Amino acid sequence: MILEESVREVIDTARIEDVVGDFVSLKRRGQNLTGLCPFHNENTPSFNVNPARNIYKCFGCGVGGDPVKFLIELEQISFPDAIKWLARRYNIKLKEKELTDEQQVVFKEKESLYLVNEFARQWYEQQLYETDEGKSVGLSYFKGRGFREEVMRKFGLGYAPNSRDAFTRKALATGYKKDQLQKLGLSRNGRDFFYDRVMFTIHNLTGKPIAFAGRILKKDAKAPKYVNSPETEIYHKSNVLYGMFQAKQSIRKLDNVYLVEGYTDVISLAQHGVENVVASSGTSLTPGQVSLIKRFTDNVTLLYDGDKAGIKAALRGVDILLDQDMTVRCVRLPEGEDPDSYLQSVGTTAFVDYLTKQRQDFMIFKAKLLLDESGNDLGGKTAVIQNLAESLARINQPLKRAEYIKQLAELIGVQENLLVGQINKAVGSRQKQLQQDAQRNEWKARRERPQPPPAPGPDSGGADPGPQAPPATHGDEGWPGAEPGWYGDEQAGMDPGAPPPDFFPGAPPPPVEEPLEEELAIGHTYQERYLAILLMRDGAKLYDEATNSTIAQFLLVNVQDVLDDFDSPFYRLVVEDARNYFQEKGKPADLDYYLAHADQKVRKLAVDSSISRYTMSPNWVSKYGKYLSQKLPEENQRAAADSFIRIFRQEKLQRKIDQNMRKIRELQSAGQHEELIPYLKLQSELIKLKNQTLGENMQKFTPPKYY
Ligand code: CTP
Ligand code: MN
Repeated sequence: MILEESVREVIDTARIEDVVGDFVSLKRRGQNLTGLCPFHNENTPSFNVNPARNIYKCFGCGVGGDPVKFLIELEQISFPDAIKWLARRYNIKLKEKELTDEQQVVFKEKESLYLVNEFARQWYEQQLYETDEGKSVGLSYFKGRGFREEVMRKFGLGYAPNSRDAFTRKALATGYKKDQLQKLGLSRNGRDFFYDRVMFTIHNLTGKPIAFAGRILKKDAKAPKYVNSPETEIYHKSNVLYGMFQAKQSIRKLDNVYLVEGYTDVISLAQHGVENVVASSGTSLTPGQVSLIKRFTDNVTLLYDGDKAGIKAALRGVDILLDQDMTVRCVRLPEGEDPDSYLQSVGTTAFVDYLTKQRQDFMIFKAKLLLDESGNDLGGKTAVIQNLAESLARINQPLKRAEYIKQLAELIGVQENLLVGQINKAVGSRQKQLQQDAQRNEWKARRERPQPPPAPGPDSGGADPGPQAPPATHGDEGWPGAEPGWYGDEQAGMDPGAPPPDFFPGAPPPPVEEPLEEELAIGHTYQERYLAILLMRDGAKLYDEATNSTIAQFLLVNVQDVLDDFDSPFYRLVVEDARNYFQEKGKPADLDYYLAHADQKVRKLAVDSSISRYTMSPNWVSKYGKYLSQKLPEENQRAAADSFIRIFRQEKLQRKIDQNMRKIRELQSAGQHEELIPYLKLQSELIKLKNQTLGENMQKFTPPKYY
């Protein structure tokens, strides 16, 4: 924590004309300076800087404040980060309150991970620009795609040579630690994770390298086209959008973001002047990514390939966008083109022209698409209406919703009230859900809550949520072989050739099962599926003889408070169904119940769970390997449930912590200190809960009596 006196010193030193001048080119006009406003798009300067009063003010969009506020708003950073930025700018040495040993370890650990990644980025760049192999293979590839050096530098492109250990050897010789390289997914057992690929750096919002992606150049059917860094302490894929660091200012200025799928699309568009573009990296949007966008704009334009897969990808993300009151538009590219290829083929002017002309409202686009596919019969129309009603139910602004109802009813050729009826139904079931949630919260409140540790102060540095459980170290088990697997998607990292992790001690190795295609997409879906399977397969079995409790009870109690954070509505339903059953019958549902379930999807899952063994995604297995090797051969189902719950809660809570931290930052930068308190309290509670899930002092989560 930075000491008050240091904060003062920084604030007293910072000059508004210097700070603004770092971002905006300013011209003197009388006593003031003026320039083009970085917060909105304009051609004539209405942005004023007043050195005498040390403030800025835009007469166009109304923003204004002191140097600290300028940084917070422009860079979307926290107050402490703004102070640190200024301290660096003016060479002020900040005095910080001593961190506890534990905090220091966590802090240093994180900082050092960034440094290692920075080293890696520089090394990959050096390979690209300065080695014969890099130049002839990597650089010529990028140049062939039309990338100029300036844009390649901006995005941190590089090259990983065709050697199995060149990077690792260099990194070790330079003094970086083996376990850091391992932790970041850069190397494994002395071998390079990325090789023979062109490299893309993934940055966080402040421009630090947090992960990498490598694209293969050879046409090799066996190897994946991209390999990506795994989830790490500094890289939570579901909260990151590729290109956000480079795009954020432009997004704010133009009050719109283009969302594309590929890394290369981002770079290509940016090079041609369309800078407000980010990529979801081939997976569908997460709520965390939407919150990230929302910090800069409420307007999203989806730019997806014209083919079926592209459209499907676009459709998937939209409800999540609507949930957060985004205005969603889309541009459908010609069949067979992606943004990069289309831009290259028609040139910038025609491309931008196409974007503006073809841009249409997403609800209208979706309606047309559904109508096209459904045919004009009654059944088809009903399905379309239902589908649209579900999206419309998510729109919270009444005027906007009313406008859609009018347009869509006309488009489909039905009366407005038909659509309204369906929306009401959808809203109704959402409300029911909310009521259930309220009930659940009450139930939760009655549960004994742990005493929260002292809340972190409002200037505790934002990114650092205080003392943490010791970071999970990777065991050797669980890494899917020395060859890189695709870690791009949490669920897609399955490598069928890899040795199976020792997850069920004594049990035959689990065959790899692919979940249904649409379920692959989002965050924790794979793990939620695994939970549903454990419930079905082991639910009725004994968890603890002493308390005569079952696996189902154990699982249900321990996922109760994170149900809201489920990514898959279906698996959430399975859990709620199991809970309702238990509450009604006083005993857990067994496999037979699921095999005869009214819902066909549930029956299918029950069949699946009874005939094969499942495991958690290798990502989680490799991250938490150490917690999985409990040798309790006579208690397999209990060991499986135990280790699953530890990890599941760890991940869910971490995500909640991250989400809450964003809220805290938001309030901090808005100066709403009153509102902060409940969030700070929640934060320390969450951290405490999370700390209980891993490590030596793991609290035993056993079902309370009344459950
Ligand atoms: N992707 C991935 N792993 C794969 C394939 C795709 O992570 N095996 C992600 C990448 O983020 C990629 C995006 O999905 O950028 C879109 O995939 P694709 O269109 O195949 O790649 P491009 O980036 O367009 O690459 P290129 O233009 O070089 O074909
Ligand atoms: Mn492409």
